[in-house]
Amino acid sequence: MSILIKTADEIEKMRVAGKLAAEVLEMIVPHVVEGVTTNELNELCHDYMVNVQHTIPAPLNYRGFPKSICTSVNQQVCHGIPNDKKLKKGDIINIDITVIKDGYHGDTSKMFCIGDVTPFAKKLITVTREALFLGIEQIKPGNTFGDIGYAIQKHAHANRYSVVREFCGHGVGKDFHEEPHVMHYGKAGTGEAFKAGMIFTIEPMLNMGKRQVKVLGDKWTAITKDRSLSAQWEHTILVTDTGYEILTLRAEEL
Ligand code: MF3
Ligand code: CO
Ligand code: CO
Repeated sequence: MSILIKTADEIEKMRVAGKLAAEVLEMIVPHVVEGVTTNELNELCHDYMVNVQHTIPAPLNYRGFPKSICTSVNQQVCHGIPNDKKLKKGDIINIDITVIKDGYHGDTSKMFCIGDVTPFAKKLITVTREALFLGIEQIKPGNTFGDIGYAIQKHAHANRYSVVREFCGHGVGKDFHEEPHVMHYGKAGTGEAFKAGMIFTIEPMLNMGKRQVKVLGDKWTAITKDRSLSAQWEHTILVTDTGYEILTLRAEEL
């Protein structure tokens, strides 16, 4: 097994899938407010994917996952299952969207704030997004996967945050999770070199406290062991001859 190199035709399909995943995150923005439940957000996204986009929500029934999106609130690190609890002022939430279009996956997530959140929470969110982009900027000819992990870890530690190790970025394409595991920590210059046509996600999770996580009895929701706040951002990225192309970029990021 090795890292797949996508053909021109596959890359075009991944561009479409990536854009559609990004558009779900854009659609949901005005709905992520105080009093809404994550189940309601799940239903809005599900209906938009299925009825408007004609995409398939990849999480639904994936290895037994019961919903169409992941919603991870406050101390939840990732893979939170939508439920009937209302979001309240001061909450921070990651919404992770994966769509399948024409057999190919687009995978992306972003953080949202409910009303005013503490300066501590805001900074964690900002630094985590910066870490994602510092990781992305490592993708250029001659660099390796270790450079991504190193850049992310360095920025996290400079801000006294920890980096979650149990969950990684991943190759993505026909399958939701393909090779390689894209680590969000590590040593510069190690690992495989980037090659045009590789497509993978980078999706760092940074914690205010310690890096350790535990998975709840629902078998999915990962939380910080010390219950500290956690943030995550994710993009799907294509390696090009000269660098990279972010396939899940939103209009607000242009
Ligand atoms: N979208 C997540 C990722 O970035 C995976 C979610 S798996 C699920 O890899 F089953 F929880 F949906
Ligand atoms: Co992913
Ligand atoms: Co995802």
